Amino acid sequence: MRKKIVAGNWKMNTLLKDGMELAKSVEKLEKKKSSDALVIIAPPFTHLSEVRQLIENVKLSAQDCASEPSGAYTGEVSPEMLVSSGVEYVIIGHSERRAYYNEDNELLNKKVKLALSAGLKPIYCCGEVLEERETGKLFDVVKEQLKVGLKDLTTDEISQVIIAYEPVWAIGTGVVASPDQAQEMHKFIRDLLVELFDGQVAEEMSILYGGSCKPSNAEVLFANPDVDGGLIGGASLNAEDFVAIVNAY
Ligand code: PGA
Repeated sequence: MRKKIVAGNWKMNTLLKDGMELAKSVEKLEKKKSSDALVIIAPPFTHLSEVRQLIENVKLSAQDCASEPSGAYTGEVSPEMLVSSGVEYVIIGHSERRAYYNEDNELLNKKVKLALSAGLKPIYCCGEVLEERETGKLFDVVKEQLKVGLKDLTTDEISQVIIAYEPVWAIGTGVVASPDQAQEMHKFIRDLLVELFDGQVAEEMSILYGGSCKPSNAEVLFANPDVDGGLIGGASLNAEDFVAIVNAY
């Protein structure tokens, strides 16, 4: 049975002290939560080791990783380094990385493979921009992101991956996808996984929705049969809101 997952992407927010407080609050609320969803937080790189010490039930993710294993790549952080800091998950291909740092599907495929070889579980992001939706290219765009980004993974490898569908027009805008729009794309992704891998991979894949997900809209989004949780940006910076989203299941 596939897992329900709610992951918080803190992006470039919180200084160390505030991040540690936030992690502690999420861990405390996690213990009291009513849902059986897996809870993951993705603080900035600089906080990972410290936050690791503060959480037990909440799982730890990084927001990105390098595409090379080691060497002269100033500023980069390798998947193995993340593992050595107690990290279990890594967000790969967030639309902000694609848009501001020109990360393309080929590069992201390298990151996914390297992360998997180091033992990390990738949270691989996909999603169309508004113009692509309006011109009817949304399915082609998402198909390409998944086809290339997850290329050449074995069945064992793909079973470690989580997919996050994040329509770019919904990220940080307050404009949320309607439950029908989310379900339509999640179903498309699951059908595509049958084509790219097999029926069992598709059935067991957790596909998260991301983009202006809040306590007030989480329940209707998560009620869709192919929506298996959320990747939460803004609302994950407030522990009560974040755990309210988790409890929306
Ligand atoms: P948002 O961000 O919840 O602030 O829209 C989601 C994301 O970028 O993962």
